[in-house]
Amino acid sequence: MKASQRKIAIVTDDPGWHGRKLTTSLKEHGIESQYVSLTDCIIEINGEGKEVTFPGFDTLPLGVFVRGVPGGSLEQVIFRLDILHALNNSGVTIYNTPRAIERTVDKPLTSLLLNRAGLPTPTTWICETLEHAKSILNKETANGEQLVLKPLFGSQGIGIHLVDNKSGLIHDEKFAGIYYLQRFIERQNNEYTDIRVLVIDGIAKAGMLRRGEEWITNRAQGAICEPLIIDKKIADLAESACKVLDIDYAGVDLMQDKNGQFYIIEVNSIPAWYGLQSVVDFDIASCLIGSFVKQIAKNNQLQACSDLN
Ligand SMILES: Nc1ncnc2c1ncn2[C@@H]1O[C@H](COP(=O)(O)OP(=O)(O)O)[C@@H](O)[C@H]1O
Ligand SMILES: [Mg+2]
Repeated sequence: MKASQRKIAIVTDDPGWHGRKLTTSLKEHGIESQYVSLTDCIIEINGEGKEVTFPGFDTLPLGVFVRGVPGGSLEQVIFRLDILHALNNSGVTIYNTPRAIERTVDKPLTSLLLNRAGLPTPTTWICETLEHAKSILNKETANGEQLVLKPLFGSQGIGIHLVDNKSGLIHDEKFAGIYYLQRFIERQNNEYTDIRVLVIDGIAKAGMLRRGEEWITNRAQGAICEPLIIDKKIADLAESACKVLDIDYAGVDLMQDKNGQFYIIEVNSIPAWYGLQSVVDFDIASCLIGSFVKQIAKNNQLQACSDLN
């Protein structure tokens, strides 16, 4: 079957506005697509070639755009990533790659890799026992300081808490048995802002300032999005973070402390761009699809070359 006849799978359980934008952009490239939930996929191991069955796909998809990997038990999440790895190993372009998704969805691993590369990221402690977490909290907040406690696989600012020696550690439903404690970054004039930068193919394409009424400045927590011209310093940091994490595209969160020092807070491998789209004058979905399609063409060329060898 010709590549042009094959469809793209947009992996999501909640297509919404983002799904529609991707579908439209793919259509503009003459490519059909279909939404697929990873929960509906089957792996079959039978000694023959095809291992993964996607509902509605007779052949392997031309590529997979990952818009969502649903949470669940450890086994469910690993199985869903196994599906992406199996497809990737069969030569299907997965955007972002399963390895990049794993590196970034895992906050401790992201922090380790950024720090090891010499990039500025807040001082962070990760441990398993309550005893260790308490001792870190007591030591680090002895003079009235605060720490940020985050879920390891969190997003949208959900399950993040400010803790100190009065509050103690907070165990909400997002707490999954590992403590990720981070030094609290105080911002200039106590303004609740941070920066989101969209990097595609190694280039910082757009950015925005997120301004909240509270210290957690995710749009999902009510922060408003303001246009931002990304200067070289911001672009360099966001681009370096993506290089270190070896990721095709990402939404990079940056914060600036009261002395002007920048920190890389996190790198999102499945970022929403609804808010960012409202403050930029180019179509983000079309830019993402342009990069995705280029990646597919590159992978197909590489495969064709290795087939000849
Ligand atoms: N160390 C920190 N100090 C101060 N504020 C923080 C810190 N870490 C995160 N925040 C705030 O919380 C928000 C969410 O944190 P983040 O690590 O990006 O988690 P999520 O994956 O939920 O978006 C950030 O955008 C920022 O506003
Ligand atoms: Mg974030």
